[in-house]
Order: sequence, then structure tokens, then C-alpha cells
Amino acid sequence: KTASLETIASTGSQLMKDVKLSKIEKMKMAEKKRRELQKSQYFDDPVMKENLEKQQENEAIEEKAVIEWKKQSKFESYGIKSKLSIQEQRESLPVYQSRGELLKAVRENDFVVIVGETGSGKTTQITQYLAEDGFANRGIIACTQPRRVAAISVAKRVADEVNCKVGDEVGYTIRFEDCTGPNTKIKYMTDGMLEREALVDPLMSRYSVIMLDEAHERTIATDILFALLKDAVAKRKGTLKVIVTSATLDSTKFSQYFNNCPVFHIKGRTFPVKIYYTKTPELDYIEATIDTVIDVHVNNPDGDILVFLTGREEIETCCETIIEKMSILYKSDPNIKELIVLPIYSAMPSEMQSRIFDKAPPGKRKVVIATNIAETSITIDGILYVIDPGFVKVNAYDPKRSMDSLIIQPISKAQADQRSGRAGRTGPGVCYRLYTKNAYLKEMSLNTKPEILRQNLSHTILMLKAMGINDILKFQFMDKPNEDSILKALEELYILEALDEDGLLTEVGRLMAHFPMEPKLSKTLIKSFEFGCSYEVIEIISMLSVPDVFFRPRDKRELADKMKQRFDDYNGDHLTLLKIYRKWENNGFSKDWCTDNFINEKSMRKAKNVKKQLIKLLDTLNGKSKGKINLVLSSCDNKFDQTRKAFVSGFFENCAKKSTNHGRNDEDGVFKTLSDNLSVYIHPSSALFKIPGVEYVIYHTLVLTNREYMHYTTKIDPVWLIEYASKVFRRANEGELGINKKRERIQPLYNKFDTNESWRLSRGRR
Ligand code: CDP
Ligand code: MG
Repeated sequence: KTASLETIASTGSQLMKDVKLSKIEKMKMAEKKRRELQKSQYFDDPVMKENLEKQQENEAIEEKAVIEWKKQSKFESYGIKSKLSIQEQRESLPVYQSRGELLKAVRENDFVVIVGETGSGKTTQITQYLAEDGFANRGIIACTQPRRVAAISVAKRVADEVNCKVGDEVGYTIRFEDCTGPNTKIKYMTDGMLEREALVDPLMSRYSVIMLDEAHERTIATDILFALLKDAVAKRKGTLKVIVTSATLDSTKFSQYFNNCPVFHIKGRTFPVKIYYTKTPELDYIEATIDTVIDVHVNNPDGDILVFLTGREEIETCCETIIEKMSILYKSDPNIKELIVLPIYSAMPSEMQSRIFDKAPPGKRKVVIATNIAETSITIDGILYVIDPGFVKVNAYDPKRSMDSLIIQPISKAQADQRSGRAGRTGPGVCYRLYTKNAYLKEMSLNTKPEILRQNLSHTILMLKAMGINDILKFQFMDKPNEDSILKALEELYILEALDEDGLLTEVGRLMAHFPMEPKLSKTLIKSFEFGCSYEVIEIISMLSVPDVFFRPRDKRELADKMKQRFDDYNGDHLTLLKIYRKWENNGFSKDWCTDNFINEKSMRKAKNVKKQLIKLLDTLNGKSKGKINLVLSSCDNKFDQTRKAFVSGFFENCAKKSTNHGRNDEDGVFKTLSDNLSVYIHPSSALFKIPGVEYVIYHTLVLTNREYMHYTTKIDPVWLIEYASKVFRRANEGELGINKKRERIQPLYNKFDTNESWRLSRGRR
């Protein structure tokens, strides 16, 4: 429900009342009732009764502390911090107390596990301690982050503390962006980038210490690095140190894995956080979130608010609605303080991201609306209220259907605790959980499942193969992925011709491994050289790897969509993207051109940079190979079929055919995937949406919302499938086919799940 501006205006005063008749009050009352009920239930049980009384006593003490704390008007205290000198700030962090012991432990051990509350200074301080202790003289000190945004923001912060420019002594490296230099001693990087470096340097010889930060997130790259670094440390004999840090207490597993290494606990300095639950489940968590934000702002004392939502779209809608509603409230009550609404998500430009750290001016309050990036990897000072709807967006992979999709699911208990913990850093805080206590206790899983157990592994396995690790089933995973998904990935690599029948890397596979992108894309890129369309493919890949280039402001959606239609290519979205890139280029990469055409200029600039990086990567490859590799860039001019053919040779598995239920209602264009006969649809934003005569298509990804949508869809000639994916498709013999199949004259070469093909792949010669 997003009420229009008019309805809000007319109900402005009602809204005020609603807000006053606060949701929070309701939550508090529910809590009280629950207590009373408990009391009456346990009245006869002396132990229970005592427990309950103790609990209440503790809470009373806590509450008193809160009141005391407020009296001393420490509310300004979150401003005081910035008045401290940088040195004083550094020394005020909890990790500082353990500096000496920590350094000693690192000197004496190959592996150290460090556990500490978020915000205790692990990420920003430990690297500096190590540098100050001389570790930087023996190599670079690296610190990995699961998220790009975190790597950049932390590098900036540490560069400030060290008083240098980012890219000088302190730098960062993320995919398609290297901001380090010859002087760089402390390097923040995504875990994916370090994983890639292992391809060329498995011993990690440039580094003296590697800190695998945020290990509790258990990304695939971090999991793979666990095993790779364990190996490297054994070979480097004391000259490489590995630190594993985690925000959760599940450290025994890490310690056991790393030869029972010591575990270090950094005591956080946290304040109590009062937790409220909703009495009944929320039907619409976005709406509930918006109400709660306004509620907290109108009825609660100073202190900033942090909200957790699942993704960009949700965040933007939420921000817009809050701003809208607030503007009404300002008018109806001049005493209401200003609320500064700040979004944060990964795809956001970094200039805007840094605004979330700015202190709210006196008399104003800020609310930061974030993805789970603010759970542990980013710390914002001054947060006293956390609003947690209890959901997160994850990438889930279904190996049976070989399908990646982004889904929104409930968070784990560990995540819920992390989120509420964010409220207690500056002072006693409050967390509003927009789910029931029962849901927390009984429905949420204890921990988040490691990514390696739920994602497509083809890219990871290609890299392992390229590192010479052939026996994937014997690889030292901390948590071993199930055999099905390993086999599925091997199969994908085999049909992409990256692996041969014995599961060994082919020439094509070796080339593919050089590119930091999913195998389907790297295959397309490599094939583009044969098809003479590498410029076109590089530009399309660049456009596919940045956040959506189409800008659709809420109030001008129709106009924006009309403008977009002018770029639509009748062959589909890949060529549409190419068209847009080239139009922009022909207009001198102009910002005004983007604004006029409802194109997101920041995404375009990013795409331009990705193109540059890819071309640089190709140059390096050609140069290093001493003539063995010769990937010469060329353009197909206007023969765009070549470009589509290149994409078919990478994306033939993502192929769908228009479903022909003759006579019956055509359900606005159902397509069936050739691999699994799954019903899929052309997305309304596609250039092919409702275009007649589209029979066979390939798509970039499937996105599951209310139905399975294909994103970035391109029309193809089915003959190309036979020509460029001969391992999967062949022309069927007339005799084998039924009437419908005869019309298609094409069928999958084999049933993936019935043959022994995949077994041959894994049991093959090593
Ligand atoms: O890694 P951990 O969560 O233990 O803490 P950290 O990221 O090293 O942050 C320590 C402190 O540095 C935080 O409390 C923030 O006050 C500050 N910080 C900041 O102001 N800006 C950043 N981009 C990162 C950290
Ligand atoms: Mg950290």
C-alpha cells in the first residue's frame, strides 16, 4: 500500500493521531501483557517465578541506567567522538585494549581467529597495528571483505586515519577497479579478488598477512580462500600469517579448521538493547517499516534510526514514501523535527554512500535505510533505534533446475541478533522486530547457511581447475557442497567446452578462467573473437555488469518507458543495450544526453570503466602469453547476427521456446525452457515484450517475482543452437519425432539426469 499524496494530505491529521496512537505503544503493551500472562502461568512454580522476578529486576536496573544516562545528557556524546583527535578516536576503540596481545599472537602463530562485536575496530585497526609492528616491511597487508562497498568505505576511512590518499599507502581493489599503487602497504579488497589472485600466485607471495574479514558471512570466495590459504601457509613456512575475523561467536569451527589455532575475543563496549516484537505477524513489512520509522521519529527522544530492508527497490520506495509522509506531518505540526532519510545499498554511487556517516545536524534526526550491508560490514555511529522487518535477499540456486534466482527470505537468529546489536553501540538502544517473538524463537534458523551450500559453483570450480586443483570432491571445504551441485557445475563447464570428457581444463576453459565473470559470459566473450564482434560483446557485457541503466522516476514512469522504447532493438535486449552505449558514446559520453533520455549516467560511466578494464585485461593476457594467445579486438559493424551468435554459444542453456497451445488462450506469451520445460515469461521491460513472431529466445537470467521472468532476452535462430552448442543440441531424425517435435526439428541431445555423463566427468582420470 503506497497511498497517493492526495489521500495522505486529506488524512494528514488522522495520520498524526495514528502515529500518536503509536505502534510502539502497542508493542510495549503487548510485551506487558505477555509478561503478566507469564507471571500468572508461573505463579505456582517457584523456580519460574524467581526467574521471572530476576528478569524484571534486571530490566528495572537497565532502565534506571538508561534514565541516568539520559540525564547526563550523553545524547550529545555521539557528537563528542568527532571532536576527539584521530589518535584519541583510535585509542578509544575496544580492540585497542588487546593491541599488544593480538600482535604477539600473530607473531607466534600462523593462524589466529578473532571474534569481536561489530564496531570494535577489527577492520580499520588491526591492519594498522600490523603495519606499525613491521609486518608491512615483509609484504602487503591484505584485508578481504565480502562486499565491494565495505572495501571502499573502509579503505577511505583508514586512509584518513593514516593521513594519506586512497591508493597510496592504503588502497583497495575490487572487480574492475584497482585503486592501489606501488606504495600500498594496506590493501582492502573483495574476497573474490584475492581468490582470483590465487590463480597466478597460489603462494600469495606479495603478502605478509592476510586478514579474512567478516568470515561469518561465509561467502563462497572466503570459503575457497580458507582452503587455499591453509595450503599457502603450510608452504610459506612462517612467512605468511592468516587472521580470520568474525562477528559471531561460532569460532570453534574456524579454530578447528585452522589446526586448532588460538581464538581471541575482543570485548565490545555495548549498551543494553531493549527488544520489542510485534504481537501478530505483519502482512506487509514495508508498510509496517514505514509506520514504525515515522512513529519512532515522532514519539521518541533523539538518536538515529537504522532500518534493514532487502534491496534497492524496496529501499527507494520506502525512502520516497517516508519523505512524502513526513512532508505532510511537517505541515500539520511545525514542532516536528526534520528527518533526514538516507538509503544505502551496494549498487549506490560511493559519493552518496559516504553521506550515511555524516552526523545529523543539531535538532535533526537521520534514518539510514540499508540492506544487510549495515549488519556487520559497516558501522554507523549514533544509531539508537533499529527497525528489523526480518527479511534478507539471497541468491539461491537450484541445481536440479540449474537456476539462479534472487529470493527474499527470513533472516537467521544470528542475523537478528547482529541487527539489534547495532542499536547499542552509542548508548542504550531499542530494536523493533517486526515479527513475533514466536517467529524468532521457533521459526528462524540458528545461523545463515554458507553460500557454498546454496549457489551455482561453476565459476568457482572453473577457477579451482585453473589452479590445478582437479579433484574437486576431495578439496578441503570447511562445509562441503553437496555432490549434486558439484556435478551440475562440472556438467555446465563440460557443455560450455571448458572441461573435456575427463573433467580436465580445455584451452577454452583456461582462457575463460582469466575473466572475472560467470562462465557463460566468459565463453561468450571468447567466442566473440571468432565471430568478429568482440567490441560489441565487450560493450554488452559491460552494460550487463552494472546496475540497471534505465532510470524510472516514480512520477515520470510512463514518459521514461516511452523514451526507452525508442532504443528498443527488434532482436532483443542485448542489442538494445549496445545501442544505448553507442548512442551515448556518439554524444560524447554526455551527462545531459543521459538526463534527457532517462538513462542512469552513473551506471553508464561504470559500464565505460568496465569496458576499459576488460580491454586492459585482454592486452595483458595477449602480452603475457608471448604470442600463444592472440585475441584481436574487432567489430562486426552492422552484422549484429554475429553478436547474437556469440551470445548463443555462451547462453544456449538459457534458451526458451514460445509455447504453442493452439486455440487455447495464449496467456500473454508463455515460453518453455528447452532444458527443463519450465514456464517462463518475457519481462514487461523487455524490447521483445508483446512483440509477435518471437519464437526462440535466450535470456541472461531468470528473476522470480510473481512469475518466472526472463531478464535481458534476445531472439535467436534455433539453427544456431545446433551449430554452436553441438554438445547439447542436434537435429533430430525424422523418425524419432512426434508431430510437434517435427515442427521443431530440434531436441535436447541427451537427458542430463539419465546418462552417466556427469559421473564420467567426476570419476575421470586426474
Ligand atoms: O570491523 P569492526 O566492525 O570491528 O569495526 P571497524 O569497521 O574497524 O570500525 C571501527 C570504528 O571506526 C567504527 O566504530 C566507526 O566509528 C569508525 N568508522 C567510520 O567512522 N567510518 C568508516 N567507514 C568505518 C569505520
Ligand atoms: Mg569490520
